[in-house]
Amino acid sequence: MKVAVVGVGNNVSALVQGIAMHRATGSLVGIRHPVLDGLGAGDIDFTAAFATSPEKIGRDLSEAVLLPPNNFPRLTSELPLSGVTVCRGLTGPGDASEVERVAGELSGAEVVLYAAPSGRPETARAYAEAALRAGAAFINTTSDAVARDPRLLDRYAAAGLPLLGDDLASQFGTSVVHHALLRLLAERGLTLSSSYQVNLGGTEDFRNLVENSNTKHQSKLNALAAHGSAADRVQVAPLGYLPHLKSQKVAHINIEAQAWGGTPVSVDVKLKVHDPSGAAGVNVDLIRMAANALRQRRGGYLAEAAQLLKSPPGTAV
Ligand SMILES: NC(=O)c1ccc[n+]([C@@H]2O[C@H](COP(=O)([O-])OP(=O)(O)OC[C@H]3O[C@@H](n4cnc5c(N)ncnc54)[C@H](O)[C@@H]3O)[C@@H](O)[C@H]2O)c1
Repeated sequence: MKVAVVGVGNNVSALVQGIAMHRATGSLVGIRHPVLDGLGAGDIDFTAAFATSPEKIGRDLSEAVLLPPNNFPRLTSELPLSGVTVCRGLTGPGDASEVERVAGELSGAEVVLYAAPSGRPETARAYAEAALRAGAAFINTTSDAVARDPRLLDRYAAAGLPLLGDDLASQFGTSVVHHALLRLLAERGLTLSSSYQVNLGGTEDFRNLVENSNTKHQSKLNALAAHGSAADRVQVAPLGYLPHLKSQKVAHINIEAQAWGGTPVSVDVKLKVHDPSGAAGVNVDLIRMAANALRQRRGGYLAEAAQLLKSPPGTAV
């Protein structure tokens, strides 16, 4: 699969390094589907990359992913050069000639993985426009509304191009663990009284999400509401940025409930994960779903991606 990446941050670092490691060692640790839709995790070839920081533009993708402020750990001492030179990306909505330039640089890519910061919907839509012109599938990993924009989704469907989004549900992150616990509580017949989650992290993603009030909070609520959780009793605390945590995320989930005869039950869970790994474990599947659908000319949203996303089409913006 020929894949272009937008944003050369921690998530792309985890993806590029993990695929290189899988190819070199055959390790399947953290790979949910060794083969998905007939495509292997190692069948991903990066063909273009876009960044905005001058340090990364002009560098080989394999070198650029290791540059600060990225702080995802180095997974392997051997990271072969990719042969992909990082290009200058679009900023803001981009004028027509810039979108056309990026569409030209995307030429030949089957899938565009959009992994720039969340909270910049105009930029996200400008890249989606460029991908549409280039005839590529688009995956929006940010919490900005792209797949939830019905007009854009219709245009992708009409062109036979997949559009997957919005916002990843990390492979084993706070949303899926919190949601699983709430579902278990309901399945076992307990009554939810109240619940909250707190997320702390030290990545640029966290810094951005703390500093710019944006679309992430609603997206996290969408992930919990998707399966019928009592949204009015579940709260998501504002994110906390603690630089010394680097790419580790620490989450605290609390659930207060009532059991037989109104007796209390309390659950507290502490989750510690590398946030970019949670994204890579999902991106490797979304890319293969998108590439497979593209080859079959199945355009628009793909229902099979729903469990990998926090805010699919139809959820709140
Ligand atoms: N588990 C997770 O990490 C997770 C889960 C769900 C969603 N996401 C989302 O995935 C996205 C990527 O996360 P990350 O941790 O890699 O973030 P990051 O901040 O490390 O990387 C984003 C990169 O995009 C670059 N960039 C900024 N503007 C750009 C533009 N206009 N064009 C091209 N590049 C641009 C930044 O310089 C940075 O290098 C974020 O939007 C995040 O909210 C992450």
